[in-house]
Amino acid sequence: MSEGRLIVVSNRIPTEAAPSGGLVVALHDALKERGGVWIGNSGKRVYPEEAARGLTRIAETPYERYSFDLTEEEHQGFYLGYSNATLWPLFHHRTDLLAVDPDQARIYREVNERVAKLIAEVVQPGDAIWVHDYHFLPLAEALRRRGVHNRIGFFLHIPFPNPSDLPALSERKLMPGWLSAFDLIGLQTRRDVSNALDFLRDSGAEILLNGRLKMGDRRFEVASFPIGIDVDGFIKAAEENADAGEHLRLSPGERLVLGVDRLDYSKGLPQRFAAFGEYLSHRPDPQIRATLLQIAPPSREDVEAYREIRQELETITGRVNGEMAELDWTPIRYIRRNIEREVLAGLYRRADACLVTPLADGMNLVAKEFVAAQDGADPGVLILSHFAGAAEQMEAALMVNPYDPGETARAIEQALSMPLHERQARHLSLMQSIREADIGWWTRTYLAALQKPLAGPGN
Ligand code: UDP
Ligand code: G6P
Repeated sequence: MSEGRLIVVSNRIPTEAAPSGGLVVALHDALKERGGVWIGNSGKRVYPEEAARGLTRIAETPYERYSFDLTEEEHQGFYLGYSNATLWPLFHHRTDLLAVDPDQARIYREVNERVAKLIAEVVQPGDAIWVHDYHFLPLAEALRRRGVHNRIGFFLHIPFPNPSDLPALSERKLMPGWLSAFDLIGLQTRRDVSNALDFLRDSGAEILLNGRLKMGDRRFEVASFPIGIDVDGFIKAAEENADAGEHLRLSPGERLVLGVDRLDYSKGLPQRFAAFGEYLSHRPDPQIRATLLQIAPPSREDVEAYREIRQELETITGRVNGEMAELDWTPIRYIRRNIEREVLAGLYRRADACLVTPLADGMNLVAKEFVAAQDGADPGVLILSHFAGAAEQMEAALMVNPYDPGETARAIEQALSMPLHERQARHLSLMQSIREADIGWWTRTYLAALQKPLAGPGN
């Protein structure tokens, strides 16, 4: 088994054109060390005859990459539709935004069948297959039907849904079969594991003495593997780009509060902007100038719920700036495009505080990157939502309820007036937590669990 290749499957793969998001960032860091084969969506839209062709090799180093294409109908049904207008809101506890469309559900399963066929053609005995994220929930079941007996792992980068929300999914009865076809289901947090176990038990899974699950003739495992970053790589990027903040031309003494998020309703951006406005109106000394720099590259703009969030943010930015701006100061600076990760590293280092205030988030790598980028002698302060997966590990952050703008406003005040010794102590403790579970740890631990030999009668 251990001599076989590692075949990674995800919808998004690194391409020059597209901004990435946490999954691509983390898998790139994982595979550049270890090597392997990464299969994903090319992003090209093609005619059905062309989509039926096999995989295209797109790169050989630092790991092999292959892509498949989607037709326009598949892009609509599989990516924009079922993945991002049904599963994404459901898994982020937003059933109010969930779209129900049987055609999209059908196309989602058909794309999974087609990708399973492509993988079944290239997989060799001894290879381990590692499937990522909600785009490919049915992939292992489709592979098993094609006679693939290899180890197949799954990692869900986003939260596992609340079991009480799952009845909102028309295909909920298929989920247990989809999940139990994997050998190992990796989740970000203990809370996700508890939700998944509740759901699987309610669906008839039995928990064996060794902690594994049994469902029909399948035995599988569910466990948490909080994803991390390449800490040393990121420290280096932050040091090398330490002058990135100069482009902002802040005035002397001006404080910088940073936010970095895809423009997604799960990230709590309107609540964050409102909280920043509240902080400014109540700040003890009106001479203090603090600027919120929000970097928010657009995401999934053809999904309706994403268009609304953009409008909402523009309205709040206009209101706060209209009320508070001075001739030489704009309190909220909002950049709606992707900024290179190296430049981001330098901006994090310049920032006095970072607002990571999602309403729901699988992990949130920005929280970890911000900590890694700080100068330990004079570190900035992380303000973190209870609802980011990172909150389970990063207890030394200033924790906030992102729904309460007053609480977040008080945390901004506390962060910007925090004494140096407290900033240093919190930073040290946060550095320990991100080092303990960095990207190398994540890959090694997950793959060791996936490849562990199955022994004993309980299996
Ligand atoms: N990112 C980036 N440029 C941007 C915005 C974000 O490179 O303009 C990166 C960021 O550094 C992080 C990732 O995208 O590595 C976002 O991951 P996170 O887990 O925070 O959120 P996700 O987008 O996966 O929900
Ligand atoms: C999150 C998801 C990833 C996704 C990324 C960017 O991190 O967990 O699966 O790739 O967002 O979203 P996109 O739709 O642009 O791939």
